[in-house]
Amino acid sequence: MLASTLDMIGNTPLIALDRIHRGPGRLLAKAEFIQPGGSVKDRAALAIIEDAYRTGELVKGQPVVEMTSGNMGAGLAVVCNVLGNPFVATMSRGNSPERARMLRSLGAELILVPQVNGTLGKVTGPDIEAAVEEARRIAEERGAYYVNQFYRDGCMRAHEEGTGPELWKELGSAIDAFVAAVGSGGTFVGTSRFLKRSQPNIRCYAVEPQGAEVLAGKPLEKPGHMLQGTGYGLIPPHWEAGLADGFFSVSDEEATEFRQRLANEEGLHVGYSAAANVCAAIKLLQSRELGAHPNVITMLCDTGLKY
Ligand SMILES: Cc1ncc(COP(=O)(O)O)c(C=O)c1O
Repeated sequence: MLASTLDMIGNTPLIALDRIHRGPGRLLAKAEFIQPGGSVKDRAALAIIEDAYRTGELVKGQPVVEMTSGNMGAGLAVVCNVLGNPFVATMSRGNSPERARMLRSLGAELILVPQVNGTLGKVTGPDIEAAVEEARRIAEERGAYYVNQFYRDGCMRAHEEGTGPELWKELGSAIDAFVAAVGSGGTFVGTSRFLKRSQPNIRCYAVEPQGAEVLAGKPLEKPGHMLQGTGYGLIPPHWEAGLADGFFSVSDEEATEFRQRLANEEGLHVGYSAAANVCAAIKLLQSRELGAHPNVITMLCDTGLKY
């Protein structure tokens, strides 16, 4: 028996995607979509709120405010509900209506912020900035704890103490590479830090939307794309360039194709960043640059029900 919903966060199963990639080598993916908020961000939500309680910045009953593309908000709503804190989310109108519905269903107070230069389904950096401004304003007005995920260590700690050790426990030095899309960078930075500390030969690759490959050092050509929750066209504040051994870009068309293939071939209904991760991991496996039979790990970031 679990003491609360919070105990469902983390320790996700690792699925062998042997149908979508038949070898050589193996593609293994963490099922982050089965967490209570439906995404990888439950991990960061729990870690940041735990830190805030520990430091005394947050107390029971105090409101919590965050800008979200939906997933962090769902994770925070789950955590705040269990711990007894009201949760207010600001979100760009460019995110899918399914995300808004989930946040409201989880009891969050949701404030939708008009887009600056993006379109529905394609959220840009300036769109995010507008939603951040609104979150800051509300936090100040209500004396709330402002989560500000991009600037919190918990984002990375969740993966450095969670995802990384979980993978190591399961596979140890049999891991050859880790592939992940980057939003706050928590998943990539935290997991890569742990894996490289455990086995310096493990190669870590960041996934970016085609045309928004700023981590790879390219100019921002296409700020709007379908990989919601990632690829904001900015270098995240906690980014550690030294952890990335390489970069893969994935187009909207490829992500759409791989979403359907994951459903048809693996029975997995996941979101676009998960599909992009799988697409990139297969590009890596097909490049044959990792030796004869490498094990490549990636993340199935969220459920397809959010789109
Ligand atoms: C769908 C989805 N995929 C991937 C990510 C990236 O995760 P991280 O913020 O840990 O880089 C996010 C973050 O919000 C997300 O919502």
